[in-house]
This record gives sequence, structure tokens and C-alpha cells, in this order.
Amino acid sequence: MPHDFMPGLAGVPAAKSAISDVDGVRGVLEYRGIRIEDLCAKSSYLETAYLLLFGHLPSKSQLMKWTEDIIHHRRVKFTILDMMKCLPEHGHPMDALQAAVAALGMFYPGRNVQDVENNYWSAVRLVAKLPTIVAAWARLRRGDEAITPRDDLGVSENFLYMLTESAPHPVWADAFDDCLILHAEHTMNASTFTGMVTASTLADPYTVVASSIGSLKGPLHGGANEEVVQMLKEIGTPDRAKDFVEGRLRDKHKLMGFGHRVYKVKDPRAVILQSICERLFRECGSSPLYQVAQEVERVAGKLLNEKGIYPNVDFYSGIIYDKMGIDVDLFTPLFAMARVSGWLAHWLEQLRENKLFRPDQIYAGEHDRPYIPLDERI
Ligand code: ACO
Repeated sequence: MPHDFMPGLAGVPAAKSAISDVDGVRGVLEYRGIRIEDLCAKSSYLETAYLLLFGHLPSKSQLMKWTEDIIHHRRVKFTILDMMKCLPEHGHPMDALQAAVAALGMFYPGRNVQDVENNYWSAVRLVAKLPTIVAAWARLRRGDEAITPRDDLGVSENFLYMLTESAPHPVWADAFDDCLILHAEHTMNASTFTGMVTASTLADPYTVVASSIGSLKGPLHGGANEEVVQMLKEIGTPDRAKDFVEGRLRDKHKLMGFGHRVYKVKDPRAVILQSICERLFRECGSSPLYQVAQEVERVAGKLLNEKGIYPNVDFYSGIIYDKMGIDVDLFTPLFAMARVSGWLAHWLEQLRENKLFRPDQIYAGEHDRPYIPLDERI
């Protein structure tokens, strides 16, 4: 039966899901029915990952086991690290992450995705190892050795420790953990859909996550947070924001970190990230980028808000990471190491009632063209 073509599948449901929900008009995002504001205030990234994957908040003993399982699987085999040392040091960290995650699948057998036990351990390994891989690449590309994870530190503290070789200020670790929660899941976005298409072929979860990483890399998706910080640095000072924004829009360029397919109000994640900025910069010193960002939001708002275009999650996240001294090209890998729990939750959900994704197309080419021999072609 013919259907209308919807470019970008805008508005076309691709799955039934109980994992998260967005109300783009009211600006509400819930994971398993719980608002992100509550999760940031009361939960941790690891507990939130459990909630996404298994559908409910863990009991004390479940959380203890989940935490122990994650801690025991954080380390990455030395052969993976050796493989990463062979990658070009100027390569993008998302490519290194994608390569390492794809390679993980070769080390952990059990391609039978109907095996519930094996799927649990695959999820544990991926949630546990992605931060180690991201931190390792940040060091290996500079010629430094990767730092072994510390079992006494939580996810965020340990990640910042593996990056910098010193345990972070608790305010930073808290802020970072909230960032991970906010990036953990977001309904049917491009990278999640990519992973689900791969999952529907019954490919192993390492391949599923590697394909999602590839999709997240693009500047219209996760890659926007890098471009936001570059844009704010280019603007430099708040007094230059007005001319810059007006010039961009006059030249029909998009403003990075603005706009969303679903939100027609300010992205609730951007609201929370902005409050994290306020808290962080009050306690740890101000950020010139934040001041520029506030002015960009103010002047862009006058021109774009009436079209339903507001800051999205990528607008303020990079400013926080920049303040922590994290390299700009690591921002999207940070997104990936948080989003892996959402991708895996969709993978497990997809497997429960799997149907191979095989959409239709509207053929717009020609038919019955003659084959012209090579020496007769012009
Ligand atoms: N700056 C200026 N104008 C914009 C912006 C923007 N950031 N976003 C959308 N618009 C305008 C478009 O120019 C277009 O205007 P027109 O109707 O006058 O031609 C209209 O809004 C619709 O734009 P589309 O790109 O068709 O809207 P879509 O829903 O497909 O866009 C998207 C969503 C891709 C996120 C878009 O807003 C964008 O490119 N934003 C910048 C990149 C970005 O920040 N991406 C991160 C998104 S969040 C995430 O993925 C984690």
C-alpha cells in the first residue's frame, strides 16, 4: 500500500517503546515515567542506566550488584589498547571509540542475542568500558599511557580521574554525573534508530552500539556540542554576539545548539544544564563562554523563538566540559558513553518483539534504459 513520503521520517512512529517520552510542547522528558529533573536531583548515572535498561529503579541489593558488576568490567583488554595505539593520533575520538567498540565484539563471544544472561553481561561490559575507552584515547593520542580505572570511585569520578590522573572536585563529579544522566536517553533519535535497525538484524550488541556511535557523530546530532563551543570561542565576547547571530541567520546558516525536531520550547535538558553552569561557575569561577552563550541565547531568542527554535541539549553541555578542561573533540564521545545505556535499553526492547527493519522507498529514477557499450558512450 503506498504511503506519503515523509523526509527524515518526521512524525512517523518507528517503534512502540516504554523507555522514555518527550513532550515537546510542555518541555518534559521522562525516563521510564520519571522526570529528568527528579533523576538529576536524586539519582546517579549508574542508577539511571539501570532504570533505563531494566524498567524500574533498583532495590538496594540490585543497585549494589549492578555497581559491583560495572566496577569489575571497567578495564579494557591490553590488546584493545594496543590496537588503539595504532590509530592515527589526529583521528577523531568518535572514530577511535567506534573502532574500539566494534573490536570489543571480537573479544566477547556469544552472538546469540536470545541468551538473556549473555545480554546482561554485554550491557554491563558496554556501560562499564565506554568511559575507559574514551579516557584511554584522550591519553594515548598524546603519547601517555592509559590510566587503570579505580574501583573505589563512582562512574563520573573515575572517568575524570582516568582523564586527568587526579580525583576530581566533588562539585565537578556531581555536575558531570548530571550531564551523563541528561544524555542517557532521548526516545527515537537518529543514533537510537540506527542502533535499532542494526539490532533488528540480530547483530551483536557491540555492532549495535558501534553503529549508533557512527550516527551520533554527525554535526546535526551529537556533534553539535563541539560546534557550539567553537562558535562561542569565535564570538569571543558578549558584545559581539548580536552581529554574529544576525549575520549567521541572514546568510541562512543554522545556529548550532538551537532547534530540535520535537521540542518547540527550550529543551528541558538545556534548562538543567544551564542551572548546572550557574552552580559550577559560582563555586569554581566564572566561564567567559557562558557569558557569551547567555547573550547568544538572548539575541537569537528574539529572532528564532517565534519559530519554536530554542537552545537544545548541546548548547550548554560543552561549556561545562570546557570548564573542566576537557578537549572539545571529546564532547561527543562523552555523549556516547552516557547514551550507551539508552541505546542498549532500546536494543533489549527491540529484541523482545523483533521485526527486521525494511522500509519502503518511492523510486524516483528511470526504467528500461538501454545499456550503451563503453566505446559508444559520449
Ligand atoms: N538555527 C537557525 N534556524 C534553524 C535552526 C537553527 N539551529 N534549526 C532550525 N532552523 C530553521 C530552519 O532554517 C528552517 O527554517 P525555514 O522553515 O525558514 O526554512 C526551520 O527552522 C526548520 O528547520 P529543519 O532543519 O527542517 O528542522 P528540523 O526539525 O529538521 O531540525 C535540527 C532539527 C536538525 C536539530 C535543526 O534544528 C538543526 O540543524 N539545529 C542545529 C544543529 C543542532 O544543534 N543539533 C543538535 C540537535 S539535539 C541532538 O541531536 C542531541
